Amino acid sequence: MLKPAVIILAAGKGTRMRSELPKALHPICGRPMLWHLLRRAEEIGAKKIVVVGGHGFGLVKGLVGRAATLVRQAEQRGSGHAVRQAEKALKDFNGPVVVLYCDTPLVQADSIRTLLDDHRKKGTECTLLSVDLSDPSGYGRIVRGRNGDLKAIVEHNDAGPAERRIREINVGAYVFRSKKLFGALKSVLPNPVKNEIYLTDAVGLLAREGRVTAVKTRDTRQMLGVNTLKDLTTLEGHMQEKILNKLVEKGVRIRDPRTTSIDADVTIGEGTVVFPNTVIEEGTKIGKGCRIGPFARLRGRSVIADGAVIGNFVEVVRSTVGKRTQVKHLSYLGDAKVGDDVNIGCGTITANFDGKKKHTTVIKDRAQTGSGTVLVAPVTVGRGAKTGAGAVVPKGKNVPDGAVVVGVPARKIKK
Ligand code: UD1
Ligand code: CA
Repeated sequence: MLKPAVIILAAGKGTRMRSELPKALHPICGRPMLWHLLRRAEEIGAKKIVVVGGHGFGLVKGLVGRAATLVRQAEQRGSGHAVRQAEKALKDFNGPVVVLYCDTPLVQADSIRTLLDDHRKKGTECTLLSVDLSDPSGYGRIVRGRNGDLKAIVEHNDAGPAERRIREINVGAYVFRSKKLFGALKSVLPNPVKNEIYLTDAVGLLAREGRVTAVKTRDTRQMLGVNTLKDLTTLEGHMQEKILNKLVEKGVRIRDPRTTSIDADVTIGEGTVVFPNTVIEEGTKIGKGCRIGPFARLRGRSVIADGAVIGNFVEVVRSTVGKRTQVKHLSYLGDAKVGDDVNIGCGTITANFDGKKKHTTVIKDRAQTGSGTVLVAPVTVGRGAKTGAGAVVPKGKNVPDGAVVVGVPARKIKK
């Protein structure tokens, strides 16, 4: 099968989001909308990905990096005009072109694959996704001919009373034959109401020349667009549910989905139990058979090895925690490298920030810290070493392997 190219439209400002951030960079479940779209493009095996940026171009560039070709739409003159900006980048490409909108971030890879199949099997000029909504206002309506094929898409503002009653809407996910797409866009005139060049008008032109199909899906949630902060909250809820369900399918036990928040780029191994009121963010990786929470927060790409326990009121950030290590109560681990079979006593804190810089704390295998220990970074607690309750280990005063230190500042004692 021919691998598709993917164009992601991300130039819009998102005026109704009431934010300086370009719309494409608003996060859902911890990652920007554009990031989610880039993942979808990768999942469907895109041969080439082109992102059309505009508002907040520098920020968009930072996110895209080398994952895609970024082109600029200097003025936002409509979705069709935005697609045109990708023509040069795809001049040597002859296969199917997928177009996705950044503000429709829940569309799943399977839905796009369905479009690609339909496009190939029926030899369409364009195949797009549609869905019936009980409240279709604001969306483009799908106008079908007698044979059921798509005739045109009429935008809400341009729709007459009869068209407004159509409940089938344009989701904003399409597959086109590449040359036909760019060809049709050259003939599209600006919309008289908004003076923008609509991608949906190119679809209408192609429907007159050849065959255009709309594949209707039942999953309305996948199809919702983000135009306001309220939409963002709603979609985030849907995406969170999906993330948790996927984890459960992979063998993770989630005790209370209602109070568990897990970002899109988190991985968790089989047999791990996540207790209520737990927040796992920013690319954290958790191994198999761990116990996390209740009331735990893990972030900053922390890595938790198999069998570890992160208990109640524990925060872990930019840290690694070794196998079977226990951090059961009231601790803060920041920029820490904790070995295997370590016991972190209740209330142990890594003081990682000196007011200017963050520093690393190393706690080696089988070490044990007493309740209320403060480890002032940079500092190392040696293999099998122990600290007494309330010990404060000053920065640079490394605790040797097997040693026992107590007091403030912590001093070595004989066993
Ligand atoms: C669009 C569709 C509509 C569909 C709806 C689904 C058109 C004309 N209409 O309407 O049929 O039902 O999405 O949510 O496409 N963009 C640019 N540059 C521009 C204009 C838009 O990059 O100059 C991007 C936006 O960032 C956004 C996408 O294109 O990601 C859609 O634009 P938007 O203005 O949100 O279109 P809608 O009015 O929602
Ligand atoms: Ca929109």
